[in-house]
Amino acid sequence: MTSHPGTGPSASATLADPNRRPRAEAIDPSGQPDFAAIVHGIDLTRPLRAEDVDAIHTAIDRYGVLVFRDQHLDDAQQVAFSRQLGPLELATGDIGEVKDRRLAMELNDISNLDKYGEVLPRDNRARLFGLGNRLWHSDSSFKDVPAKYSLLSARQIPSAGGNTEFADMRAAYDALDDETRSEIQDLVCLHSQLYSRGLLGFDDFTEAERLKWTAVRQRLVRRHPNTGRYSLYLSSHAGAIEGWPTPEARAFLRDLNEHATQRRFVYAHVWRPWDLVMWDNRVTMHRARPFRSSEVRDMRRTTLTNEVSSLAQG
Ligand code: OGA
Ligand code: MN
Repeated sequence: MTSHPGTGPSASATLADPNRRPRAEAIDPSGQPDFAAIVHGIDLTRPLRAEDVDAIHTAIDRYGVLVFRDQHLDDAQQVAFSRQLGPLELATGDIGEVKDRRLAMELNDISNLDKYGEVLPRDNRARLFGLGNRLWHSDSSFKDVPAKYSLLSARQIPSAGGNTEFADMRAAYDALDDETRSEIQDLVCLHSQLYSRGLLGFDDFTEAERLKWTAVRQRLVRRHPNTGRYSLYLSSHAGAIEGWPTPEARAFLRDLNEHATQRRFVYAHVWRPWDLVMWDNRVTMHRARPFRSSEVRDMRRTTLTNEVSSLAQG
């Protein structure tokens, strides 16, 4: 990622300009210098050059959350952009049936709309299941092979509310005392959507859903393969620690979550239409904030697979 101190994105830079380079700028350089950056000088609707792909990987390794403004992507462009960064996972974590989907399987429907574009009624099952996104989580931690990056594109936003908050699990790990660090270093948690939804009192799962969302094992402490930084791999889906009595595990995870989501570790994204926000699920948690349920919020997420379980990462 090149930087041009004092110049900012040049007004005269065109897409054909070979000198045009993406540039990441920390959003809160004083409070959290290595968490959340805005990336200027890139058009995600067009095929990227190899050096632009490299620049994005370098920037997300450093910041964990990247914001790209004014990216007028359609679904095919969002999928094409995402694929340039690595293999995608499919939206198999949803509760709805495939025939009721509004979007292709490469896109997670993070909206409150049905397939006809109508706002879901308040008591709609898919809507209530989707409210699980308001709990701090890491995407697809309930899958054996969880998510790596998530890319969320804002197509239509409500008039107020609906922010997305991100918490830095590297900073949260760094702030732990030595005793806690050594206690958790090799712990394995069990993650399931049955657990996270159960926290909200959503438990009318079918037998097939219970089977599909059998708990999976994930490390509690991860080490980033490129930066070597440790992070806490927490998620509302985590409902047990292997080898621990359940109440003790849940009380302990609750304390860890409380620690890890202190405001000093959090970046709150206030959406504008056509923002694309990309985050690394290995080093962050996130949650949706409420908005008026009668208003439209249309967000679409592509997701890169981590390709291996967190257990394989050491
Ligand atoms: C997601 C998610 C939060 C939001 O897209 O994975 O949790 O604010 N989104 O919609
Ligand atoms: Mn999510």
